[in-house]
Amino acid sequence: MQIIEVKTKSRPSTVYCGAGAAEKIGEVTRGKQLFVLTDTNVYRLYKEFIEEKFPAAALCVVPAGEKHKNRHTLFFILDKMLDARLRRNAMLVALGGGVVGDMGGLAASLYMRGISAVQVPTTLLAQVDSSVGGKTAIDHRGVKNVIGAFYQPQTVICDPLFLRTLPKRELRCGIGEIIKTGALDKGVYEKLKAGENRLFNLSFLEEITADCVRFKAGVVEKDECEKSGLRKSLNMGHTTGHALELFYGRRSHGAYVLIGMYFESLIAEREGILAHAYAEALRALIGKAVTLPHFENIGEAARVALYDKKNEGGDEISLIVPKDVGAYAELRLPVGRYIAYLQEIGGGIA
Ligand code: NAD
Ligand code: GLY
Repeated sequence: MQIIEVKTKSRPSTVYCGAGAAEKIGEVTRGKQLFVLTDTNVYRLYKEFIEEKFPAAALCVVPAGEKHKNRHTLFFILDKMLDARLRRNAMLVALGGGVVGDMGGLAASLYMRGISAVQVPTTLLAQVDSSVGGKTAIDHRGVKNVIGAFYQPQTVICDPLFLRTLPKRELRCGIGEIIKTGALDKGVYEKLKAGENRLFNLSFLEEITADCVRFKAGVVEKDECEKSGLRKSLNMGHTTGHALELFYGRRSHGAYVLIGMYFESLIAEREGILAHAYAEALRALIGKAVTLPHFENIGEAARVALYDKKNEGGDEISLIVPKDVGAYAELRLPVGRYIAYLQEIGGGIA
């Protein structure tokens, strides 16, 4: 197990990452009034674990899935927190994937203007990305993560034990964010290239998770609230990915991140930002994790990208694109040109 400190200005976090991390739960939660938030799937799989690790906690089980990441579930959680008569020094434990983590973090930030939050991520995506860095949110009126706050967890417990029950579709989600990290960090990229035929292998994923967490911690420390522009880089592939995810649904968040990266790498190449050889190598990696469908009406889907938080107004779409190994660039495209690219690329993939 590795211990990674995230030294953010608002509140530092400690990440326990690797086999045995879950054994830290007792120490981290000792003496606290506890509120454990989880979803129906995780509760079904980890009921005994929850009862063993959090015997005296108030428990709140919410329906699983992105479609429940909304104000109704958020207020359901806040009501349960009130019902449990949580005090200001209570601790919320978000045990689940990114949906539970994002909503739990937001509820912790709101209740009595903020109680401690501990993230126990149970999906690969949540372990390598969402549990670290303090972004919390719900979706609203069809816009992803539009209501939220930066609120750092006190502790993150990333134990690979949870990955054993994770379906391949969900592993793919995490692999999407790992490949994104690889496009930003040379060390992770080289590990990925060396292990590209073992991408779904749990021991490979366990090994690379700590590298991704360490990389993200470094970015978050330098730009906690996405002010300097550095943290925006973690959104590589997400502009197109989110737009397609919201328009088409069906596939997972991580699959759309991968598809977004694939499309945006082609755009970056056509714009002369990204060299062909590296672009091909990245796309080959993406191709190991996801198959690319043909998208009907992609022009309409592309318009959703106008709501992306990275945009600075007007009719320009902001894309974070790979430039070279370990380097990225921000590309601003007039929406018309962006749509034309997607129609040319996205309509053409069989
Ligand atoms: P999720 O939380 O919906 O989990 C995916 C599915 O896996 C759910 O059905 C869940 O019940 C199930 N599950 C969870 N743990 C399991 C386990 N151990 N075994 C079997 N099934 C399990 O989705 P996710 O992919 O974890 O997270 C996606 C969310 O994270 C999105 O809402 C996205 O916006 C958000 N996100 C946030 C950040 C951030 O920085 N805060 C970063 C990336 C993504
Ligand atoms: N997942 C993007 C971020 O944490 O900033």
